[in-house]
Amino acid sequence: MPPPLIALDRVGKRFADGLVALAEVSLAVRPDEFVALLGPSGCGKSTVLRLAAGLESASSGRVQAPALRAGRALETAFVFQEPTLMPWASVFDNVWLPLRLQGASRSQAAPVVRQMLASVGLADFERSYPAQLSGGMKMRASIARALVTRPRVLLMDEPFAALDDITRQKLNTDLLAWWQGQAMAALFVTHSVAEAVFLSQRVLVMAARPGRVVAEVVIAQPCPRQPDFRHSALFADACRALGAALADAHDGAPPTRPSAPVQA
Ligand SMILES: Nc1ncnc2c1ncn2[C@@H]1O[C@H](COP(=O)(O)OP(=O)(O)O)[C@@H](O)[C@H]1O
Ligand SMILES: [Mg+2]
Repeated sequence: MPPPLIALDRVGKRFADGLVALAEVSLAVRPDEFVALLGPSGCGKSTVLRLAAGLESASSGRVQAPALRAGRALETAFVFQEPTLMPWASVFDNVWLPLRLQGASRSQAAPVVRQMLASVGLADFERSYPAQLSGGMKMRASIARALVTRPRVLLMDEPFAALDDITRQKLNTDLLAWWQGQAMAALFVTHSVAEAVFLSQRVLVMAARPGRVVAEVVIAQPCPRQPDFRHSALFADACRALGAALADAHDGAPPTRPSAPVQA
């Protein structure tokens, strides 16, 4: 088994105002793994992602991730719930941006940008501006911009939470294809039990005050996953196991170490 690309070892995070956002969080994501972080609002999910992205530093414990190594910043891509596109720039120019920052001219970048736009289904929209796109298309453009540098780590913070259900399900299926096509370590934050089960190979359930990992559920369905996975018995069982773990987390699960992984 390859060593993890992202590893948190008993990480604590205390903010300047004294709030303890994370206590003793340990987790690891292997290079080709898709892991979801699921938990109630305020339990520290975004803080975990920000630590893995090198945007925050730990107060205690150890964080290992490519983002923390000099010169490796572009190996990590971050996608937020808000698509964060530049409104004054075309879809093409938005996706070109990270390559441009690496020194690629428009014509040098064009083949890669166009291939990326085609793979997210936006081949015909390179001249459009963000305001002309639907919410789902804006998110596709945002993902294209994140993936165009071929990152090894993909961090996503509730990227589809604002989208309607059909759009979200389609993006879930497509996301798995992009993830498999590029072989990335993915750490995906969501509120949705069904989304966590559909996407991930493992789900880490977090509880709040202080933020910690209280359960781990393995989703045994192999990849690639087809939309009909949502209608299978394994899916229903995994949702039930995860829903119960999440309910415990909401009720204030005791601050213990996570139990052995549950096989869903
Ligand atoms: N910069 C900050 N300063 C102080 N407290 C913060 C800061 N960022 C987050 N928090 C607090 O840390 C806790 C965890 O936040 P967050 O990681 O955003 O949770 P989640 O993403 O699970 O909703 C929350 O109580 C939040 O209010
Ligand atoms: Mg958050």
